[in-house]
Amino acid sequence: MIKRLFLCALACITISTATADEGMWLPSLIKERIKDMRRMGFKLKADDVYSDKKASLKDAVMQFGGGCTGEFISPEGLLLTNHHCGYASIQKLSSVEHDYLTDGYWAKSRNEELHVPGLTISLLERMEDVTDRIAAGESKEEIIAQASKGKGCRASIEPMYYGNQHYLFVYRVYKDVRLVGAPPSSIGKFGGDTDNWIWPRHTGDFSMFRVYADANNEPAEYSADNVPYRPKRYLPISTKGVEEGDFTMIYGFPGNTQEYVTADAVEYVTNISNPMKIALRTTRLDIISEAQSKDVATRIAYAAKHANIANAWKKWQGESLGLERLGTVAKKATYEQEFATWAADKPQYATLLDSMHTAYEKAIPGYFARELFNETIAGIDLLNFALWLNSQHEKGVKLTADVQNVGRKYYLGDYRVEIDKAIAKQMIGEYVARIPTTEIPVQLTAAIDSCGGVEPFVDGLYNGTQLITKYPLTHDEIFADPMVQLAVWFAPQVAKNSNYAYRNLSNVPSVEKWYRTYMQALREWDKERAFYPDANFTLRVAYGTVTGYENVDGEYHTHLTTLDGIMAKDNPEIYDYNIPQTLRDIYARKDYGRWSIEKGGKSTIPVCFLASNHTSGGNSGSPVINGKGELIGINFDRTWRSTMSDIEFDPDICRNISVDIRYVMFVIDRIGGASYLFEEMDLR
Ligand code: ARG
Ligand code: GLU
Repeated sequence: MIKRLFLCALACITISTATADEGMWLPSLIKERIKDMRRMGFKLKADDVYSDKKASLKDAVMQFGGGCTGEFISPEGLLLTNHHCGYASIQKLSSVEHDYLTDGYWAKSRNEELHVPGLTISLLERMEDVTDRIAAGESKEEIIAQASKGKGCRASIEPMYYGNQHYLFVYRVYKDVRLVGAPPSSIGKFGGDTDNWIWPRHTGDFSMFRVYADANNEPAEYSADNVPYRPKRYLPISTKGVEEGDFTMIYGFPGNTQEYVTADAVEYVTNISNPMKIALRTTRLDIISEAQSKDVATRIAYAAKHANIANAWKKWQGESLGLERLGTVAKKATYEQEFATWAADKPQYATLLDSMHTAYEKAIPGYFARELFNETIAGIDLLNFALWLNSQHEKGVKLTADVQNVGRKYYLGDYRVEIDKAIAKQMIGEYVARIPTTEIPVQLTAAIDSCGGVEPFVDGLYNGTQLITKYPLTHDEIFADPMVQLAVWFAPQVAKNSNYAYRNLSNVPSVEKWYRTYMQALREWDKERAFYPDANFTLRVAYGTVTGYENVDGEYHTHLTTLDGIMAKDNPEIYDYNIPQTLRDIYARKDYGRWSIEKGGKSTIPVCFLASNHTSGGNSGSPVINGKGELIGINFDRTWRSTMSDIEFDPDICRNISVDIRYVMFVIDRIGGASYLFEEMDLR
C-alpha cells in the first residue's frame, strides 16, 4: 500500500513537471535551460538552438511583418506563417475578379509568386547583452548606429527585466517578399470569430510566402532580377505526427506579457481597463454586426475590421475570467506582504511597494485616458483620417492630393459612412461620459451644448464634412472642415497620449523605474523562482509538451482534432463553418493519400493540436518544433482558459493551439494542387 502510494506520488510528480512550462527564454541564454529541455525530450544542443557563430535554429525563424512570426521550410526562401498573419497581404493582392481571400491562391510556378508591396521580414543576425557597455558609458545611439551598418540592417536595444539589463538585437530586413500560396478563408479562417480562442479547433491557419534577395543573398528592393533568398537554416518537416507527451518548442516573437506586476496592476486590468474596453467594443461590434447581417457587400468590407476588434475583445473577457478564477489579485497581495516582511529591514527596499503604489495612483488617470481615447475616438474611421491629416500637417508634410490619397486609401478603403456615423454617436457619447469633464476639449463641450446633445452634434459633423465627398481638398478646405476641426481640438490629448504609449501600464516610465528595483529585489528574495524577462517582441524560446487538459471538472479536452470534427461543424448556412466543396468531396471519397492517420479504427486527417508552451500575441505563425528540431506545426492561438497567461501562467490549464503540419501539407497537396512545392522541402 505504502509502496503503491509512493509510486503514484512519483508518477504524479513526473506528469506535472513534464507539462509545467511557464517561461519565454532568451535564445542566447538557452544553455541555462538546456538540461530541462533535454529532460523533456529535446535531442539537440544549446548551440543548435542559438549561436552567432554557426547556423542554428534561430536562422530558420523570422519576424513576419510587424507583429507575427514565420519560419523557413526550404533552402530557397520558402516560408510558413499563419493565414491571419498573411491576411492583409492576401487582401491587398485581391480584387473582385481575383478574390484570393475567398478562393485561396496557389502560384503554379515561381513566376506566379506575387510581390506584396510593403511587406517585410526581419531575420535576427545576433543578440548581445550590452548592459555592461552601457554602464561603462557607451551611448545607446552609438551602439545602435555601429550595429546597423550592414546592408538592410536594423538594430535596436531592448530593456529586459524592466531595464535591469539591455540587449542589442541586429536584424536584416528583407523587402522583397512574395505570396506563394494561401488556402481559401473557409479553411484558413475556418471557425472565424466563433471558434477564436476556443478548443476544440479546426482552423487551417497557414499561408506561404517566399523571400527574395539580390545576387549576393542580401536584402534588396523588389526587382524581377531578385532570386530566392538562401537561409542559413530551414526546418525539415516531420510527417510522423504528434503523441501526447512529445516535446515541443516554440521559437518566435511574443509581444507583451506582465508576469511580475503587483496586485495594483492586476486590479487596474480587471476592474478598470478590461471592463471599459470590453463594453466599448461590444457597442462597436453590435453596430457593425447588424449592418453586416443586412448586406453581403458590407459583411465583406467590414470582415477584417470586425475580426480585429473581436479578437482582443474576446481575449480580454477570457483573461478577466481567468484572473478571477486564479485569484491573482489576492495571490499577488499575499506575495507582496511576504516580500514586505523580508524587505522591512533593508533600507533600499523597505518602502519600495509604497512607492510603486503611489506611482500607480499617479499614472492610472493618464494611462486610462489614452486607453479610453483608443477605444472611442480612435474607433471612428473618419475622425482617424482627420487626426492623421492634422498630424501630417503638424509634422510639416504638405497635404497634397497624393498625401490625401494615401490617407483616403487607408482610412476609407472599406468604409460605410452610416456605420461610422452610428459608431461616432456612441463613441463620442461614451468618451465624454467616461473622461473627467475637465479633460474634455472645451470647444467640444461648447459644440455639443450648442447643438443640443451628442447626436445632433455628430449629425452636423457628418453633414458638414467634405472628407468623403470631395477630392482633392485645398489646404483651407481641410482646415475649415468640421471633422478636421474636431481633430484639432483633440490634438492636445493626442500629445498627452504619446506620454503613455507603452506596451502596458507597468511600462510607463514613472512606474517602470520602481519595477527596476523591484525585479532586483525579487531575484534576491525569491531564489526558487525561474525568472525570464517579460515578452517585448524580441525572439524567445518556449518549450513544453503535447498535452490535453481538464477544461472543467470532469471534462477532459484531448490534444488532437481531425477532419471528422470539421465535417461535424460543416454547415453551408453558417458563414464561419461553410467549407469548400472540394473538402467535402475528399471526405466522401476518403481520398487522403499519404496524409491519413488512424483514429478509433477509421482513417482521417489530423488538423490542430494542443501543447503546454507559454505563448502570447506575436507568437502567431511560430514554428512548433519537436525534439529532433523538425517542424510539427504552426502556432496560432491559445485556448479560452489560457487567455490570462500574459499575467499569470497556469501550467495545469494553459495551452497553445497549433495547426498540425500534416494538415498544412494535405491542404497544399489536395486543396491547392501545389504538391510541386514539396520538392524543395525536406519531408521526413
Ligand atoms: N486569437 C488569435 C490571435 O490572437 C487569432 C486571431 C485571428 N483570428 C480571428 N478569428 N480573429 O491572433
Ligand atoms: N493569435 C495570436 C497572434 O496573432 C497568437 C496567439 C496568442 O495570443 O496566444 O499573435
